[in-house]
Amino acid sequence: MSKLPMRKSTIVQALLLLQLLTFHVFSQPDGSTAPMEKTEQEALYLAIQSLVGKWWNGSELYPDPCGWTPIQGVSCDFFDGLWYVAALDIGPVLENSLECTQDAKFSQLLFKLKHLKSLSFFNCFSSHRPTTIPSSNWEKLAGSLETLAFRSNRGLIGEIPASLGQLTNLRSLVLVENSLTGMLPRELGNLVNLQRLVLTGNGFNGQIPVSLANNLSELLILDISRNTLSGSLPSSFGSLTSLLTLDLSNNILGGSLPSELGELRNLTLLDLRNNNLSGGLTHSLQGMTSIQDMLLSNNPLGGSLMEFGWESLRNLTTLDLSNTSITGVIPDSISSLKTLRFLALDNNHLSGGVSPKLAALPSLRALYLSGNNFTGELEFSQGFYERMRGRFASWNNPNLCYGSEVTSTGHVPFGVERCKHEQENSAYNSGTQNKVNGGSSNQDSNLLASFGFSTSMNGLWWAIAARELVLVLLLILLQ
Ligand SMILES: *[C@@H]1O[C@H](CO)[C@@H](O)[C@H](O)[C@H]1NC(C)=O
Ligand SMILES: *[C@@H]1O[C@H](CO)[C@@H](O)[C@H](O)[C@H]1NC(C)=O
Ligand SMILES: *[C@@H]1O[C@H](CO)[C@@H](O)[C@H](O)[C@H]1NC(C)=O
Ligand SMILES: *[C@@H]1O[C@H](CO)[C@@H](O)[C@H](O)[C@H]1NC(C)=O
Ligand SMILES: *[C@@H]1O[C@H](CO)[C@@H](O)[C@H](O)[C@H]1NC(C)=O
Ligand SMILES: *[C@@H]1O[C@H](CO)[C@@H](O)[C@H](O)[C@H]1NC(C)=O
Ligand SMILES: *[C@@H]1O[C@H](CO)[C@@H](O)[C@H](O)[C@H]1NC(C)=O
Repeated sequence: MSKLPMRKSTIVQALLLLQLLTFHVFSQPDGSTAPMEKTEQEALYLAIQSLVGKWWNGSELYPDPCGWTPIQGVSCDFFDGLWYVAALDIGPVLENSLECTQDAKFSQLLFKLKHLKSLSFFNCFSSHRPTTIPSSNWEKLAGSLETLAFRSNRGLIGEIPASLGQLTNLRSLVLVENSLTGMLPRELGNLVNLQRLVLTGNGFNGQIPVSLANNLSELLILDISRNTLSGSLPSSFGSLTSLLTLDLSNNILGGSLPSELGELRNLTLLDLRNNNLSGGLTHSLQGMTSIQDMLLSNNPLGGSLMEFGWESLRNLTTLDLSNTSITGVIPDSISSLKTLRFLALDNNHLSGGVSPKLAALPSLRALYLSGNNFTGELEFSQGFYERMRGRFASWNNPNLCYGSEVTSTGHVPFGVERCKHEQENSAYNSGTQNKVNGGSSNQDSNLLASFGFSTSMNGLWWAIAARELVLVLLLILLQ
């Protein structure tokens, strides 16, 4: 008896739900479809068809694209009683996304979508039929377009047309992993509302236009990594004061670090790895008080770590100065960076002692000191080596040795000898030590060089993993 009312109520609920659904479906204006201008709807169908192929018949498959037959990747906005396309995302993101055919074409009809705010092409234009970014008509989208993205279009060739500079409402311009080439047009400097400019992984060359740095004061993210930009960094970068991340890694940028960079007080990431920058660590960079990741490895930077106000970089977590031709000693101020997690000073011309204070840094998870000329005794505890495992490197420092703190041969610093006065006291340990070292420290550093220092932030952590892997392999081989 007690179960019956419950069943009844489920049925009532189901009926209510059904009613709600039917009400929703048929509650469009006119009682049937979402009203659109005929030209808008036709432009949408034909623009998509030119990308996904002739087989795609929009009017048949999606008779009400802003209403009850939505197209994956298309969204609409309502203006003055009519529906307009607000966003068009082409590319294999979801299971039923619009996917381009091998000979996808960029249709001029896209420029008829008068309220288009967001346009993106992912994995669309293939090298089977190379195509360029249209060079005219962008002004038609100037009033509406806020984001434009071309990602992973291997067949997208040619230059960035100067006319993109007409899209003055643009907040985000992303041209990632395409085959674009040529110089960056000065007109990009007209995009004064841009917050994100990401041009990574193309073949852009020439200098960074001064207009970018002069005009784009709203910019939060600037990433032009993995291109072949040359010349020096414009000093006007200092006026991009909103900037949070600046990534120009993997180019051939030269000259010195402009002192104006120090004015980027909100910057949290500076990645200039793998360039041709010289002239030392500009002192004013200590003005980047929010910086968390400072990555400068593989540049002929030169200079020293002294006289730099490390203590002002209170939030520094990653400092990568590997292979930067720096000289001198490690200043004590580095040991005061409480938030430091990753410190790479390897493959430089550093000398002097290694302070045991480094091991006391509470957050430190990786420390690379190899390939320098450090001298004296490494006064790190056995617990430190156990904690760091493969994320510690100090080989190729011929005048460095480790001391009596380390008693277990399983946790000696790889490629470093036990200090002489220690060896005299312990013949047994030194015998084991020779076996572990095996005279192979040169070989392993070459191996490491071929693994490490790859391209992105990911690459950095990959490099850490690779170093660990190599070390494990070597230890197995040597046993
Ligand atoms: C799409 O389908 C409709 C109705 O079936 C048909 O009239 C129209 O010719 C087709 N359009 C294209 C471009 O194939
Ligand atoms: C910078 O922006 C102004 C408009 O704010 C524009 O007139 C000028 O041409 C831009 N400069 C460059 C070099 O693009
Ligand atoms: C820097 O960040 C702070 C805190 O988020 C913000 O209030 C300030 O406006 C930013 N400065 C600039 C120049 O954008
Ligand atoms: C790097 O810069 C030096 C001058 O500092 C220059 O002689 C050299 O040609 C540059 N290398 C490349 C690859 O541009
Ligand atoms: C450093 O980080 C802390 C915590 O994330 C944050 O509250 C603080 O504002 C940061 N300091 C600076 C100068 O950015
Ligand atoms: C060290 O940096 C220079 C550029 O300064 C680069 O040419 C060289 O390949 C780097 N070495 C390694 C092992 O990465
Ligand atoms: C390394 O340091 C030692 C002792 O300070 C010095 O004699 C030697 O010349 C240095 N080697 C190099 C390559 O700089």
